Amino acid sequence: MKTARHPRSSRELTELRTRLGDAEEALRAIRTGEVDTVVVAGKAGPQVYTLEGAEHAYRLLIESMNEGALTLTADKTILYANQCFARMVKSPLEQVTGSSFRRFLSVEDRTRLRPLLRRASQSGAKIQVQLKADDGSQMSAQISIRLLARNGFKRAPIGMVVTDLTEARRTEELLRALTHRVVQVQETERGRVALELHDNITQLLCAMLFRSQALANNLSARAGPATSEALKLGAMLGHAAAEVERITRNLRPGVLDQLGLAAVLQTTSTEFTDRTGVSVKLACVELTARLPADTELALYRILQEALKNVEQHAHARHVTVHLTKQDDIVQMVINDDGVGFDPNHHPAGRKGKRGLGLLSMRERATYVGGALKVKSSRRAGTEIGVRIPLPPSITAVVAHRHAPRHSVKRKSKP
Ligand SMILES: Nc1ncnc2c1ncn2[C@@H]1O[C@H](COP(=O)(O)OP(=O)(O)O)[C@@H](O)[C@H]1O
Ligand SMILES: [Mg+2]
Repeated sequence: MKTARHPRSSRELTELRTRLGDAEEALRAIRTGEVDTVVVAGKAGPQVYTLEGAEHAYRLLIESMNEGALTLTADKTILYANQCFARMVKSPLEQVTGSSFRRFLSVEDRTRLRPLLRRASQSGAKIQVQLKADDGSQMSAQISIRLLARNGFKRAPIGMVVTDLTEARRTEELLRALTHRVVQVQETERGRVALELHDNITQLLCAMLFRSQALANNLSARAGPATSEALKLGAMLGHAAAEVERITRNLRPGVLDQLGLAAVLQTTSTEFTDRTGVSVKLACVELTARLPADTELALYRILQEALKNVEQHAHARHVTVHLTKQDDIVQMVINDDGVGFDPNHHPAGRKGKRGLGLLSMRERATYVGGALKVKSSRRAGTEIGVRIPLPPSITAVVAHRHAPRHSVKRKSKP
């Protein structure tokens, strides 16, 4: 029999059972706030941890929180966790306390967390992770880390607050889908307006133009002032038709198919300078292959929207536009030397309304897998940078070592 061969084993087993009972009792007492001291057996022998300030009122507050609250030793052993955290990781609290926090993180998140914990200070740090629950499910969470007072510890314990980001992520996704829908609707509506303008207004203006010319021709030489009025009317109608044509072209993405991206960016810049007097310097890499239609449209619309903002808000004198391609990434950077703004403040536009411009620019970039960055500060101009990855099949090369630079200056007005 085992007991006969190992008389000490049964004694040890009883002792272990007693210790386990003690440990369970201690855990229960910690949870209910009856004690504020824990003894953790570590490599360097048992260590005593005091749950400083863990008065009952604070415990009740932390237990009633809708966020996970934890304290960890410097080597990430969980000294204390609230019920909310246990619910987040779908594990009984007694199995959470005393275990390592690392078990709730993926290998990548552990690697990202490590330097933060090493550098953790009392001013705190934040990180977003996927929290792994015991049943294998995952949850987006933000962890706020703060170093607690050292109070006699060789290495200060760490305090953590874990926030469930599931709802925030869902809202974020909803907002993105909504913004995308807005951009889509905007594009469809632009197409419809362009068609109506072309089919109705342009046709009508052209007919009026011919009529006014016929009128001028039919007026007798003696009706001098009336003839000159008819001719002026004809010229004005000609201008109006050209302006409607320009607006129609800008509304339609089809212009990209006809002219190609570089030519459209060039036309857009020239027209902008002609209309506003702000010079645009366009440096455009020569692309040997067409970019995906979505990407071309995104870049075109982003430039249009950025120039609109320059016109409406920047009070700039010069704009530069750089289109480059590097390692399957196409990049467009638009700079202006205007008044600038605080991009983090998300300012309200004219009449206090929040515009859609920056939002739709960002959405257009994101939709084609890219990203948009806005750098701006008051009185220091604005830089809009967009980077879009290209599918591997797209090979665009720089035809010349130095890309041709198109400089657009204001045309002298007649
Ligand atoms: N190039 C710029 N220079 C100065 N301010 C700008 C520029 N671009 C954007 N802004 C600021 O950002 C705000 C938001 O721009 P946007 O999202 O395009 O909306 P909107 O133009 O309709 O106001 C503007 O109202 C303006 O205050
Ligand atoms: Mg705008």
